[in-house]
Amino acid sequence: MGTPATARAASTASTARAAATFEPDGLVLRPRDVRFDWSRLPTPWIPGEPVASHIINVLHLLLPEGERWFVRVFQRALPMITDDRVREDVLGFIGQEAIHAQAHQGALDHLRAGGPDPDPYLRQLEWFFHRVLGERPGLPPGRAREQVVEQVAIIAAVEHFTAFLGDWVLSADALDRAGADPVMLDLLRWHGAEEIEHRSVAYDLLRHLDPGYPRRIRSMMITGPILYWLWIRGARFLMAADPRLAGSRPGGPRRVESGRAFLAASRRGLLPAPGQAVRSGLRYLRRDYHPTQEGSARQAAAYLATSPAARAAAAR
Ligand SMILES: [Fe+2]
Ligand SMILES: [Fe+2]
Repeated sequence: MGTPATARAASTASTARAAATFEPDGLVLRPRDVRFDWSRLPTPWIPGEPVASHIINVLHLLLPEGERWFVRVFQRALPMITDDRVREDVLGFIGQEAIHAQAHQGALDHLRAGGPDPDPYLRQLEWFFHRVLGERPGLPPGRAREQVVEQVAIIAAVEHFTAFLGDWVLSADALDRAGADPVMLDLLRWHGAEEIEHRSVAYDLLRHLDPGYPRRIRSMMITGPILYWLWIRGARFLMAADPRLAGSRPGGPRRVESGRAFLAASRRGLLPAPGQAVRSGLRYLRRDYHPTQEGSARQAAAYLATSPAARAAAAR
């Protein structure tokens, strides 16, 4: 079965908080070898909702590069970890994120075969994750360590949003009512559930390497806007390439039109409400913040117990 496994002794803040709220946190994280068959994926995969489908499809553009970068950063952080439990969580996180990247890559390859060529946008992402955020060989050890800690802080901020999105998609009944493709929904919900399952790992690693408040805040102030900008760029790229939306206007729909379409879809529950996302970002700035406050580990475990992909992975 795809349920999270063995409970461990409680020692970290995350486990203490989880115990207080009867949430099954503090589990051994393990990757699930999921597979998805995209051969019958309709376009758009939310019937009659091309804008909402494109906006969610940005995940398939962003996550393969982004999550492979998470893995590289965490592998570089491993030698800095002096706590066995943090190391064990980081290893579990690496395993899960590597499979997330692979699963979204599968969806991306399918979209590429039947739709617009995403390579111009992907080349920008590659430059961003390899050149701007890539490892700089030859740095003195102190600066190399500082670079890794800074990048762990960025990942902790991103992981706050992935937990937020995971929580949203697990509860987004409007997607079921709209007849969204069940394979895509399973990918999103399996991924969302694992994001909640490992929601504390990047934050706990950051606190292990730098318990200070300023770096956490600084990284969110940078990460939130960059993430928003990357997402908007990706969505506009996909919409501009869709002849149903672009109409006769070269370059796709106007910003105001796509903005209105986004707000209308979020009002119908097909996308997260922007206000909710902003409020979630602000919660990260609180001094008493901890990721266990984001989403429900119980709900995530319940989904993983029934997810077709997670169940098939367990049967293999
Ligand atoms: Fe992930
Ligand atoms: Fe994650």
